[in-house]
Amino acid sequence: MKITETASWQALAGHADTMKPRHLRELFSDDGERFSRFSLGLEGMLFDYSKQRVTRETLDLLIALANEAKLGERIGDLFSGAPVNRGENRAALHMAARHLEQTPFPSSSSTSSASSASSTHCEDVMPQVRSARERMRQLVRAVWNDELRGYSGEPVRNIVNLGIGGSDLGPKMATLALKPFSHPGLRVFHVSNLDAADIWPVLNGLDPRATLFIVTSKTFTTQETLTNAHTARDWLLATAGDDPDDVSRAMEQFIAVTGNTEAAFNFGIRPHNIYPFWEWIGGRFSLWSAAGLSFAISVGMEEFERFLAGGAAMDRHFREAPFAANLPVLMALLGIWNTDFLGAATHLVNPYCQPLYWLPDYLQQLEMESNGKALGADAAPVGAETAPVLWGGIGSNAQHAYFQLLHQGGRLIPSDFIACAESNYALPGHHDKLLANCLAQAEALAFGSSVLGEEADPLKRCPGNQPSSIFLLPRLTSFHLGLLIAAYEHKVFVQGAIWGINSFDQWGVELGKKLARRLLPAIAGKESLTGSDASTAGLIGWLHATTAKR
Ligand code: F6P
Repeated sequence: MKITETASWQALAGHADTMKPRHLRELFSDDGERFSRFSLGLEGMLFDYSKQRVTRETLDLLIALANEAKLGERIGDLFSGAPVNRGENRAALHMAARHLEQTPFPSSSSTSSASSASSTHCEDVMPQVRSARERMRQLVRAVWNDELRGYSGEPVRNIVNLGIGGSDLGPKMATLALKPFSHPGLRVFHVSNLDAADIWPVLNGLDPRATLFIVTSKTFTTQETLTNAHTARDWLLATAGDDPDDVSRAMEQFIAVTGNTEAAFNFGIRPHNIYPFWEWIGGRFSLWSAAGLSFAISVGMEEFERFLAGGAAMDRHFREAPFAANLPVLMALLGIWNTDFLGAATHLVNPYCQPLYWLPDYLQQLEMESNGKALGADAAPVGAETAPVLWGGIGSNAQHAYFQLLHQGGRLIPSDFIACAESNYALPGHHDKLLANCLAQAEALAFGSSVLGEEADPLKRCPGNQPSSIFLLPRLTSFHLGLLIAAYEHKVFVQGAIWGINSFDQWGVELGKKLARRLLPAIAGKESLTGSDASTAGLIGWLHATTAKR
């Protein structure tokens, strides 16, 4: 049965009609206990969702929806290693990469509690995970101890990760987020774009003798990454000169994290420098694995493992907590409520935390590549809106850019605010102001200008009733970053399970890649264009005329 045809979906649709006219002002004045009722503490982090446009009845109905979608069984399937990526018949075991206990994963206990889909669960993957983690530890130690050297004996001081999408956004986001914990003498860069303007300034400022490249690509076929890897190799080998020993030693400055060892080897990367990118881990869920190597080198293996511990703590909570007190489940259900029943088309993420600068980009891929699908796993239309457009940027900058539209633009825009009780950058005079702005925005969005009694001038009036949730972290630690990221991952899984989507494929991305390959010979002036529309042909004609290629 389609999720939209279930009794709980129908009940939610009816309930939404009664909730839409209700204002958050009224919900708060009706219930003096609203904050304690609709907030949740976990591992020192607070999740306040009292400013969402929900009542106890809304949440009960949403939980009934989760039950009707057999969410409990779906979570069992995920943790048991069942092929939840049904299209590709693969498990999604990113939780194994952050499993720190000396127990198997997936374990036989999780398989026995799971549904029939888990009958083909995969074997314990922990031996390979532990071995990869140990290799990472040795590499990180070698860099931190100046034991890893370039072709002329210089210690490695610069790390350049070459990757895109999930092979870039996670390590880039986490490296910046946890910079205060990083090795002070190392510089870590993340280059992703095809545009030479991305890699050129990075290479231009580096000493090739002291630079390590990490080519992170699950497939080792991604055009952007391979183009950058070739450019980096040419740049490095050009300085190494003609001496075959120097060239050979220079190639030791390349590491691959990939599932395609043959292609990495053919590129010239030595087998002992190839780290695994397992089939059962999707790019956008891979930060916990060797795909996070640049981040692990930046902060050291102890911090990296604290990050893993945060993710593992969220896994335990997600598996064990009842839905009504389960953070990722609540995040997912509130998202479904806002999208499918209140009619929000977008979801805004506002970290009031400069080090989380890349978090909205990271979450964009996580949510939109996972659940940006109108068809269910059975190839039939879901029949409901699925992933909203996720966007965002850091506060308080965002206040001085697009928040005007949130206050007076007339569109429903739910948001997540993220802030820390204490900053890792202890300059006086900043953090309290940052927090005041964060809480003030959530308050203004929820309650509007009536908070200050400024309702008289219609042009100045802010109606409020914009829903938001707030995550308050004690401080941006490795552990709490892991906790937060894993919460969003499981949110995505829950939403995919309820919408009936396969959250672990991304076929839509392929069409553009194929067309780019088809257009390249014509753009490069090597072949004439065939089979393209008049607009594309006209644009290529203009490019040729302008660059005199033809
Ligand atoms: O094209 C999208 C995508 O496949 C992402 O899912 C992935 O994270 C990214 O490209 C990079 O892929 P790879 O790691 O294989 O280079």
